[in-house]
Amino acid sequence: MACVFALFAISAASAETTHEYAGVKKCSICHKTPAQGEQFSKWQAAKHSKAFESLGTPEAKEAGLKLNVADPQKDGKCLKCHSTAYGHTEAQVTQAIPVEEGVSCESCHGAGKDYLKLSVMKDVEAAKAAGLKIPDEKTCLQCHNSENPFNKPFNYQERLEKIKHPIPKK
Ligand code: HEC
Ligand code: HEC
Ligand code: HEC
Ligand code: HEC
Repeated sequence: MACVFALFAISAASAETTHEYAGVKKCSICHKTPAQGEQFSKWQAAKHSKAFESLGTPEAKEAGLKLNVADPQKDGKCLKCHSTAYGHTEAQVTQAIPVEEGVSCESCHGAGKDYLKLSVMKDVEAAKAAGLKIPDEKTCLQCHNSENPFNKPFNYQERLEKIKHPIPKK
């Protein structure tokens, strides 16, 4: 029995690291219409889409210097929370998901190349098996924590209200 659990743990962990990123353009194809809930334009209008740009401001530079970071837009110490794939492993930053995208869909929903096919997406259990994550407060706290030089208190419900993007009920 213990052995079965151990095997499961190993395969779950490796599945998590093998999914590849697709990039926000791919998600936007299906997630932009009012009927779907306009997730793409809501994300574009909110701050997560600007997370890379923010690392180019004078205040970012100043905060960087205190931590021996010469250029926040090039340093993993900042990019790990201000871009998507970088937070997981630098090797996963590919052309599909450049750092310029900032904190995009897959930061919270998991790397999407294996779940974004329509047939998979329509079946939430199949999508989860292919890497889709339904985010919760813990997802946010991976970045909203005191490691960030500009950290502010984090109230999940209040913050969620600012970024929510539900599929309208039919
Ligand atoms: C080919 C079209 C298509 C693409 C591309 C696509 N989706 Fe979806 N997605 C859907 C459809 C259709 C649903 C189901 C909507 C429903 O249940 O009404 C869905 C549902 C979802 C859900 C809700 C799951 C649930 O039931 O709670 C999430 C989250 C999601 N997609 C994220 C993404 C992300 C992130 C990407 C990009 C990596 C993406 N989707 C790409 C079509 C797509
Ligand atoms: C990959 C890291 C990351 C994750 C995960 C993340 N955030 Fe953020 N969040 C950021 C960064 C970086 C900023 C600052 C963006 C900027 O201003 O450049 C930010 C800013 C925000 C803002 C804008 C500030 C404000 O309050 O107006 C809200 C709201 C927010 N996040 C909510 C959330 C919620 C809710 C979750 C979880 C569902 C979450 N975030 C998950 C990195 C992340
Ligand atoms: C642990 C994740 C994390 C790390 C590491 C991180 N940040 Fe952030 N950063 C965030 C989050 C989350 C926010 C949004 C803060 C909030 O609204 O509570 C943010 C906000 C910011 C802002 C916007 C401040 C504002 O209020 O407009 C700047 C600028 C910034 N970070 C610069 C940096 C720099 C420079 C580094 C590297 C030295 C860095 N960050 C490292 C997560 C991080
Ligand atoms: C900062 C984290 C974060 C980012 C970035 C993000 N989402 Fe979400 N998403 C969430 C959370 C949290 C929920 C709500 C989960 C729940 O139902 O409790 C959610 C729910 C959804 C749902 C399901 C809505 C429903 O009614 O069931 C879809 C579809 C979705 N997201 C698509 C996207 C797409 C597409 C993008 C990029 C354009 C995106 N999300 C970016 C955190 C995020």
